[in-house]
This record gives sequence, C-alpha cells and structure tokens, in this order.
Amino acid sequence: MEKSYQKLLEGNKIFAETKLQTDPNYFTKLSKGQTPAYLWIGCSDSRVPANEITNTESGEVFVHRNIANLVIHTDTNLLSVLEYAIKFLEVKHVIVCGHYGCGGVKAAMTNNFHGFVDNWLRNIKDVYFKNKVELEAIEDEEKRSDRLTELNVVEQVRNLAKTTIVQEAWSKRELHLHGWVYGVHNGLVKDLSVIHNGKEDIDSIYHFNIV
Ligand code: CO
Repeated sequence: MEKSYQKLLEGNKIFAETKLQTDPNYFTKLSKGQTPAYLWIGCSDSRVPANEITNTESGEVFVHRNIANLVIHTDTNLLSVLEYAIKFLEVKHVIVCGHYGCGGVKAAMTNNFHGFVDNWLRNIKDVYFKNKVELEAIEDEEKRSDRLTELNVVEQVRNLAKTTIVQEAWSKRELHLHGWVYGVHNGLVKDLSVIHNGKEDIDSIYHFNIV
C-alpha cells in the first residue's frame, strides 16, 4: 500500500509540537479568529506557498490560488473569496502573485491541446493577443514567457479593479491592489509596482457610480 501520504501526517505532528514549544498558546490564540491584513491571489503551483515565501504565520494571509493566478469576473469562487476578504475581514491589501516558469503561462503560449484547462488558459491567450507586438519582439522563448507572466499579473490586477467588490470598497475606504512576480529560481519577489488605489486607474467604461 502507498505510504507516502503518511509523511504528511507525521509532518503535521512535528508542526504542532514545534509551534507549541515556542508558544504554548499558539493554537489557542488562532482558534479565537482571524484578522489577516492581506488577500493573496496566487498560482496553485506547489513551489509558490504564500506563507512560506513571505515568512508569515497562520492567520496573517487569506489565500486564494488557481492555475496561473487569474482573476476572472465570472469565477464565483474567486469573487466569494474577494468579497469575504474585503467586506468582512477588511483586508488592507490584495496581492496578485504570479511566478516565473509558470506552467499555465507556458502552456497558453503554445498551440498544444490539453483539454478543459485550455478554456481557463484562454484568458492568458487574450493577454498575449493584447500584447502580441511587444511579446513577439522578444526572441528568447524563456524571456517571452517571463514577460507574459508579468503582463498577465498586470491584467489580473486590472481585473480586480474592475470588480464591483473592489470599487464598493474604494467608495468607503482605502484598499491597495498589488502585482508581484515570484522567482522560483531565486526565492525573491519582484514588485511590478502596478498599485491601484482607486478606479481612476482603469478606463471609465468600467467605473460604477457607487453611493
Ligand atoms: Co503557475
């Protein structure tokens, strides 16, 4: 019988014991509730764990992950997470974090057929199409996929700004949107400085007059 999953259960015991050694009230405190200041929208890739790469603890980051960190305005899962994080947890920052070497981005750059997932990756093909001239001027394939990874993050931050949820928050308080790319090869985050603090940063057709 396959036993490799046992490693996870054993690992969990070590985790719980280690936390209690440094703080006997660690779990008692966490059980009282969460007040994270950040919502993380990242890739499902196993090499990009939100807490680990930001050196944060349980309770600090509210997390949503999907293939290639996409913000799709009809994705009820993402929109529910976004609404809960903004309206009820009152997070101050929403971070879209892509990563270099993203399999989803690379797959979207090809004409290969994978199946249902190609419908999801279509969103990245749209980002490619919008930026085709810039991207096809980059000869090196790796560098081109790195640039598409960055452009994809920028587009997803814009998609966040277009949501009723984010704009409703902006009508009442400050909320910062950020676009980052993580380097799987060096462990470092590159801040793309695509910070949005208000709907002025997106085209007026996407504005909602919220009173
Ligand atoms: Co990825």
